[in-house]
Amino acid sequence: MSEGAAKKEEKPRKFQAIRGTRDLLPPETALWNRVEQIAHEVFATFGFGEIRLPIVEQTELFRRSVGIDTDIVSKEMFTFPENFREQLDLRRDYLAMRARELRNQLPAKDAMKSFISFTSDFLDLAHSTFSRGQIPQTAENKDSLDQIHSRILSWEPKVKQKEFQCTEQDWLLFLSDIVMLANRLEIGGLISLRPEATASVCRAYIEHGMQQLPQPVKLYYMGPMFRRERPQKGRYRQFYQIGAEVLDHVRPAETILGEVDKELRRDAVIDAEVIEMLMTFFGKCGLQGTTVYINSIGHNAPNCRRGYVEKLRAELTRIKDKLGPDSQRRIDANPLRVLDSKLESEQPYIERLPRIADHLCDECKAHYAAVKRELDQRDVKYQENWRLVRGLDYYMRTTFEIIAPGLGSQNAVCGGGRYDGLVELLGGRPTKGIGFAIGEDRLILSLQEVDKRSSDTGVQSPLATHQSPPLYIAWMGERAYATALGAAKTLRNAGFRVELPPVEQKFGTALGRAVQLRAKYALILGDNEVTSGEWTLKTLADGTQRKVSEQQLIAELKKM
Ligand code: HAM
Repeated sequence: MSEGAAKKEEKPRKFQAIRGTRDLLPPETALWNRVEQIAHEVFATFGFGEIRLPIVEQTELFRRSVGIDTDIVSKEMFTFPENFREQLDLRRDYLAMRARELRNQLPAKDAMKSFISFTSDFLDLAHSTFSRGQIPQTAENKDSLDQIHSRILSWEPKVKQKEFQCTEQDWLLFLSDIVMLANRLEIGGLISLRPEATASVCRAYIEHGMQQLPQPVKLYYMGPMFRRERPQKGRYRQFYQIGAEVLDHVRPAETILGEVDKELRRDAVIDAEVIEMLMTFFGKCGLQGTTVYINSIGHNAPNCRRGYVEKLRAELTRIKDKLGPDSQRRIDANPLRVLDSKLESEQPYIERLPRIADHLCDECKAHYAAVKRELDQRDVKYQENWRLVRGLDYYMRTTFEIIAPGLGSQNAVCGGGRYDGLVELLGGRPTKGIGFAIGEDRLILSLQEVDKRSSDTGVQSPLATHQSPPLYIAWMGERAYATALGAAKTLRNAGFRVELPPVEQKFGTALGRAVQLRAKYALILGDNEVTSGEWTLKTLADGTQRKVSEQQLIAELKKM
């Protein structure tokens, strides 16, 4: 085969979405929009405002908040160095390598010149990233840059001189100084695609001084999250969450003296209201058959969770040989996570483990009781689940999860809980927090199941998003085209969906296309119609048609 023919045969490469990511297409996207619209409406009625967050954050933010031993941080994050960091890093490595090579040579003018010029380029890049805040703008970094600069300034004239002279000792000192100063430069950390958004909300709360606003601050968000998990139904590497967080600063002890009960009640009311809002949202979406599980995991103190964890660890160590390898590994690092295990053979042993409810301190016990009372008052149905510990480190006291039907093994459609102390851990003032995140992909899957079932039973789903059928404008002739353009504009402005064919078609073809597009009506515009000003409106289902004037058209359509 000739080269030309081979090239012709060569098929262009086809691209596919990356494993665990997917395209969301119409008409399904209409359902996504509807769900998001309901979230905007419902959350607003509870006084929440929307926050839009970046998709990348410093990796350190997630390490500190979600926890370095969690699956999310230890295995699932998409993490990479920032571009400029990589460049600086590479140049710094090259600088050190060149210095090592030059150390073994007698000072030669050309080699010195090229080393100084490379150092000068390195300094330019470091300066520009420093001034843009892309590397930490600390006093130490500024000092390192200034010192490199002054070394270059003192050596540049030396190598330019005709009669160049320097001792080997000076030269070695210069090389090691430059390498030492470059290494002292703190270039910054890694960045990660966000695996969740609670940490970002807390970061933003601190960064924008939201502690100064009237408390509590109520925020919600929606958007993509990224976790490198094994993809399956309801589990993706890019998935979408709709979440909400309530942040409430901790009042100084002296101002709540004698009001501990009131404070406890305030927290419990906030917890219950967040869950009530969630269930209101699910209700408005028409999600059916959900179960709300709640638990309290106490707080991190010896007379509360820490004491319980020690007991649990001791008991797990005693029955270690009955547990699978995952649970065995968790005994040391995070014994609470053993309670999450779904492994069949472990279940009888886990069921006999000590339970946290028996080890809560008095305050956590009172808080949990108050949350349940508040939920009862709001008529929110729930089940207690002592094994609900959640997979992120920041939780304390209330944890909750909601499961929905039609999802198979990935049936948690929402998870949340209280995280007092997280803002402080990230450098803010003592602050309490509670929130949740709904897995939007799973919510949509479950709604589609409900929809399927309700269409089997003939009951209309509350989320039915059948778009209104289009109105098809069948036009022929240039004069009719101008009229059709005007009519399309008027109709679209009035909110009608209009299909205007881009080229002239015979009326028969045009009407066939209108039927294909599931249009209910076609507006027929030919020379006759344009001349008489009387347009033909055809009902496609029965073929009947009538004459309407331009002025009557919208009123007629609204009536129909
Ligand atoms: P989470 O339990 O890790 O909590 O995630 C919340 C929900 O996101 C899950 O219940 C699930 O519906 C959905 N989800 C998680 N991973 C995936 C995945 N790979 N594919 C599809 N859906 C997924 C959090 O993210 C916390 N930030 C929630 C929170 C907010 N707690 C307090 N405030």
